[in-house]
Amino acid sequence: MDQNSCVTIQKEWDIVGARQLGREFSKKVGFGTVDQARIATAISELARNIYLYAGNGRVCFEIIDNVERKGMCMIATDTGPGIKNISQVMEDGFTTMGGLGAGLPGVKRLMDEFDIQSEVDKGTTIRATKWLR
Ligand SMILES: Nc1ncnc2c1ncn2[C@@H]1O[C@H](COP(=O)(O)OP(=O)(O)OP(=O)(O)O)[C@@H](O)[C@H]1O
Ligand SMILES: [Mg+2]
Repeated sequence: MDQNSCVTIQKEWDIVGARQLGREFSKKVGFGTVDQARIATAISELARNIYLYAGNGRVCFEIIDNVERKGMCMIATDTGPGIKNISQVMEDGFTTMGGLGAGLPGVKRLMDEFDIQSEVDKGTTIRATKWLR
């Protein structure tokens, strides 16, 4: 299997495509159905944020396979408006667009590792990892 693959997010339908690709990828890495669903949900939240707030961007998947452990990570990148206050958007219920504000805190809970890099007017990169156990 390919070590990584990417999907461009440009239109609303791409969110569905990212979710499906992510689920297939996680299955090939060896995750069970419950983790596949968690990973697919995390991907669709990140893809939806890209679509809503940045307009376009991409989500890539990478397999991590080293001596100690195996897993996968997703990297969501855009060159949109960026996030001014990262600790604020990680609070449950914080939204600027009338959403539930559950997306990013939810992704953090669904995955094992989570990291946001963002700069106003430059864009946002979110990396989230899940380990096989
Ligand atoms: N890629 C992004 N670029 C710019 N701002 C973002 C991006 N992703 C999230 N944000 C900001 O972070 C806020 C919180 O995002 P989060 O996904 O947690 O909630 P939401 O999208 O508002 O609602 P929900 O996902 O529950 O429908 C958003 O309202 C938005 O202001
Ligand atoms: Mg969201």
